[in-house]
Amino acid sequence: MAQKKPEKLIDEKDVRLDGRGLKELRPMKIEVGVLGNADGSAYIEQGKNKILAAVYGPKEAHPKHLAIPDRALLRCRYHMAPFSVEERKSPAPSRREVELSKVIREALEPAVFVEYYPRTSIDTFVEVLQADGGTRCAAITVASLALADAGIPMRGLVAACAAGKVEGRLVLDLDDIEDKEGEADLPLAWMSHSNAITLLQMDGSLTLDEFGQAVNMAVEGCKQIHGLQKETLKAKYVAVKEEVEE
Ligand code: CDP
Repeated sequence: MAQKKPEKLIDEKDVRLDGRGLKELRPMKIEVGVLGNADGSAYIEQGKNKILAAVYGPKEAHPKHLAIPDRALLRCRYHMAPFSVEERKSPAPSRREVELSKVIREALEPAVFVEYYPRTSIDTFVEVLQADGGTRCAAITVASLALADAGIPMRGLVAACAAGKVEGRLVLDLDDIEDKEGEADLPLAWMSHSNAITLLQMDGSLTLDEFGQAVNMAVEGCKQIHGLQKETLKAKYVAVKEEVEE
């Protein structure tokens, strides 16, 4: 059943429908190393989004003509499960999924030392199990962790989140209804270490001043997510080290 638009998405006390403040991220849960058969994997829940990422490689590139002589070929597939959205989605790749696969790959590639693995491929699969807005960003956050979990050398982790405008106010990390009913949505990916923005898109319209504020807000959100990414990786490898020592 389609979600009905409530009268107000933000109340007079600046509280959003799901109880968040304007600059608050959705509750997040991240795990790494969740799949036995992939070289690296990770899982994220961000609000109602539930997304799994798996990485294979570096391995010999197939088909061979795609191999690049001086670096690895980074491939990415973003896919939404038919049951991930309210209206069943065809399992066949849609134009939107082709676009998102491209932007996710481009957001991740600057972080990966692709030059270390010439003629190989690194394949990243993102499966959206449940979607509630901002899946491209959550996909980047989780795929970056899956790459790290696969032991692929990286300059830094990539974290992503959107900022946007809803009922005239700038907000962080829009959910589905805010994305659909709001005035603007600005997904952004940010790479730790080099402090670089590796994805910046925008839907809707903002003034120049709002645009600057939204970019800063999204970068701050990414920094918080990056903290959680680091904690998750550390917790996993401290646990592994303790197991080895026992
Ligand atoms: O997920 P993201 O915000 O990065 O991408 P979008 O194209 O702006 O889509 C926003 C939301 O629309 C998704 O997260 C889904 O919740 C929803 N959607 C849907 O209900 N059915 C689809 N076939 C595609 C998206």
